[in-house]
Amino acid sequence: MSARRFPRDFLLGCASAAHQVEGGNDNDWARWERDHPERIADGSSSQDACDHYRRYRDDLTALAALHQNAHRFSVEWSRVEKEPGCFDRGALNHYADVVRTCRELGMEPVVTLHHFTFPVWLAARGGAAHADAPRLFARYAAACATAFGSDITWWITINEPAVLACQAHLTGEWPPGERSLRSTLATLRGLLRMHAAAYHALHAVALRNGSPARVSIAHHERRLTTRRGRHLDRLAARLPDVLFNRWFLRCCASGRLLPPLGDAPPLPGLRDSLDYIGLNYYCEDTVRFDRTSPQTLFTGRVSEPGRVLSDFGWPIDAPGLRSAIDALWGEFRLPILITENGVADSRDALRPAYIADHLNAVLDAIDDGADVRGYLHWTAWDNFEWAEGYTKRFGLYAVDRTTQERTPRPSAALYAGICATGEVPGVRSSARELGRPG
Ligand code: FCB
Repeated sequence: MSARRFPRDFLLGCASAAHQVEGGNDNDWARWERDHPERIADGSSSQDACDHYRRYRDDLTALAALHQNAHRFSVEWSRVEKEPGCFDRGALNHYADVVRTCRELGMEPVVTLHHFTFPVWLAARGGAAHADAPRLFARYAAACATAFGSDITWWITINEPAVLACQAHLTGEWPPGERSLRSTLATLRGLLRMHAAAYHALHAVALRNGSPARVSIAHHERRLTTRRGRHLDRLAARLPDVLFNRWFLRCCASGRLLPPLGDAPPLPGLRDSLDYIGLNYYCEDTVRFDRTSPQTLFTGRVSEPGRVLSDFGWPIDAPGLRSAIDALWGEFRLPILITENGVADSRDALRPAYIADHLNAVLDAIDDGADVRGYLHWTAWDNFEWAEGYTKRFGLYAVDRTTQERTPRPSAALYAGICATGEVPGVRSSARELGRPG
């Protein structure tokens, strides 16, 4: 198949998150790493990470040299507001300079306000479930928008709310390590309120500044599918699939707390609070009914023989990205920005084909009429991968843990070629080799 091309103004770059790259943060995650090293795969901490807080200019310059025209990063709330109501001018100036540097280098900034971490003072009061969390989050959002001026179009209020609520409150793998359905639901409701409050705070500042803000969440789409056609399996997959993949988005679109998590009257400001959909896609999961897993609502993952897996054990599934775009475009008719897509692959054996195949899937969806505005690869540098520590390597650049030296992997050059021309090489591998079996 010959090369195909993205539209001229299509955004192509990388995505990152403050806690995973900056180093030196003090938030609920940093405390968790310190107090529970046994909960991090390699016992490591984020204290060094990629030292990106100091190296951001060099790092961004390197990405611009790879012809990337966009960059997603997150602002670390705990740096900006060390104590409630005390905004740190130095930290705000730092992130304003990150924005300015992106612009000077020709990269469109895509700014996330919350990527999994809470300031310790809010975590201690229950995090998202705290009654005042929406007001506090909106105040922080407004402080950022004011400090960054009229320079931001693409905002993400919250990264992967469903993942955060499940990992932190249902499976207990992340701080605060709870295993409670009740607090998972309270957190989800809190995150909805936080999103709605920040959505309006950002638009209020944008209106004053005359900037064209577009605000959304970064939604993690990981469909649960069944292969064997057993009725019980299909039944088991349905509820967690809807809860995980659709509930939050549908609440934001309709303005209601939808069943099965509640059938409440509209939440103030929630309706139509997505200007686009930020889509994080890694793979789909094949599942079956599993009566031993109440914490996953009785679904268990099935591994399928012959399927290529990443270092994370996640199947490689480019057609799933196409299905995700089609489904979201079909239901919501909102522009889509791919805010994360990538692969844990320390040898860079899978990544080149992974990038080409997933970008071809995006092109297919665009050809079919979906309004996709850009693709942000996860990620630029090997980083602190939450409970996996440094064991999972998603970077276009390998990062030496002792010297912090960045070494581009071969896929960095492949992606640079795509960013330079907008042209994507033909599909590298058949769906059978790299994607779905059969
Ligand atoms: C996503 C997270 C991101 C990173 C990738 C691998 O779910 O948003 O921080 O951990 O997975």
